[in-house]
Amino acid sequence: MKKIAVLTSGGDSPGMNAAVRAIVKSCLFHGIVPIGIRDGYKGMVEGDMYEMCYADVDNIIHTGGTILGSSRCLSFFEEETRKKAIEQLISFQVDGLIVIGGDGTFTGASILSTEMGIPVIGIPGTIDNDIYGTDHTIGYDTALNTVIDAIDKIRDTASSHHRIFFIEVMGRHAGFIALNAAVASGAESVLIPEKTPDLAQLVNDIKTQYKGRRSSIIVVAEGEQEGGSLEIVNKVAPLLEGYELRPTVLGHIQRGGRPSAFDRILATRMGAYAVELLREGESGVMIGCEGDKLITTSIDQAVKLHKSPDMKKLDLLNKMLTR
Ligand code: F6P
Repeated sequence: MKKIAVLTSGGDSPGMNAAVRAIVKSCLFHGIVPIGIRDGYKGMVEGDMYEMCYADVDNIIHTGGTILGSSRCLSFFEEETRKKAIEQLISFQVDGLIVIGGDGTFTGASILSTEMGIPVIGIPGTIDNDIYGTDHTIGYDTALNTVIDAIDKIRDTASSHHRIFFIEVMGRHAGFIALNAAVASGAESVLIPEKTPDLAQLVNDIKTQYKGRRSSIIVVAEGEQEGGSLEIVNKVAPLLEGYELRPTVLGHIQRGGRPSAFDRILATRMGAYAVELLREGESGVMIGCEGDKLITTSIDQAVKLHKSPDMKKLDLLNKMLTR
């Protein structure tokens, strides 16, 4: 193993830089040349790669985003495009590849690892936490804390004005952020993609809760089945006359910012472990974290199998509403 290339792909997440730093430093520690691929699979296809050194990863452990850049390269799902990418890796004499990203990234990696002879290791980096084979993805903890901070602030104004806020958080296909943010912020209700919503029940709950509190926070996952916070407010407003309703979309603020201690440590461990696995001859696996232990799952399984949030937390939320 003389040269290891690394890329970040899909939605960026806080802690990706800490992972890149750990990979580069571990490579240099072992006398391996680290190669940075810019802008995910797009850079791989275009041969936009460079040899990295210590200076490239100095002072980045605490920064959000990704110094390598990212993209969603849809053409990578075409065989011709992947052929070009593989040729580029060969021309740069890359012996091992580490991909950091979410489900789209691993779908690409899974196809790639069957088509080329170069070993591939995956590191889960997405704020959505929706990857099978790991309890935590890099960036999820930071995003969750960003969301909670925003909800706490909205609660101040909600209670001052006796309003009902429908706060939309990220999670196109998964409710991890929404459900856990609801529990951690003491929200009155939550809507997630994994559960069919009952708007009549929601209206009823709001009326009951409002008697005691005169304000409510409803957390809405972006991918929930009614179409988001604005649509829900439009649907329930006629049934809640006399109540002041406000939809708020938190948006991309959730993806940025300084990574939490948890994400920095997780990313550093996973980055260093990825280099070890390549050195040991491993390929086609994604690193995960179970409890506090690093584990591996085949990238194919990580792509095919589905991880759902703990639905018992819905009961927990209800219990917390007892007055
Ligand atoms: O990174 C994952 C995610 O945050 C999803 O929750 C969200 O739907 C999506 O990215 C939006 O990303 P973009 O605007 O970059 O397409």
